[in-house]
Amino acid sequence: MAATYKVRLIKGGKKGKGGKPDKPPEMDVTIEVPDDQYILDAADDQDIELPFSCKSGSCSSCLGKIVEIDAAGIVQKIGSEEQQALNEKIDQEEQAFLDDEQLAKGWVLLCVAYPKSDCTIHTHREAYLG
Ligand code: FES
Repeated sequence: MAATYKVRLIKGGKKGKGGKPDKPPEMDVTIEVPDDQYILDAADDQDIELPFSCKSGSCSSCLGKIVEIDAAGIVQKIGSEEQQALNEKIDQEEQAFLDDEQLAKGWVLLCVAYPKSDCTIHTHREAYLG
């Protein structure tokens, strides 16, 4: 039987002066995703609209980033070791677009990403890939 994980999807949300949020997230939802279902498909099943195009891991339309957030839903800046630990919460072996450096930074193609643990994803990130 498939394990199911809680995947928190956050769109937007900016840190302001003094670490206080100056713009709350536009979307902040947590969905249950079985470990044999892609996160994008699970979101769609639960009526959450995320961007996509190829649905095969070969473009960047569905790009998200696996992140750590604080209690206010603000994305935290973290070191590479902490990022690596977060990245292990996702299996996106089928992806064919991101290079190793981008993968190390936590970029995730949600159309081919299975959860391996509870995790938080910053969605709608195509314009920010770097
Ligand atoms: S929709 Fe193209 S990689 Fe996900």
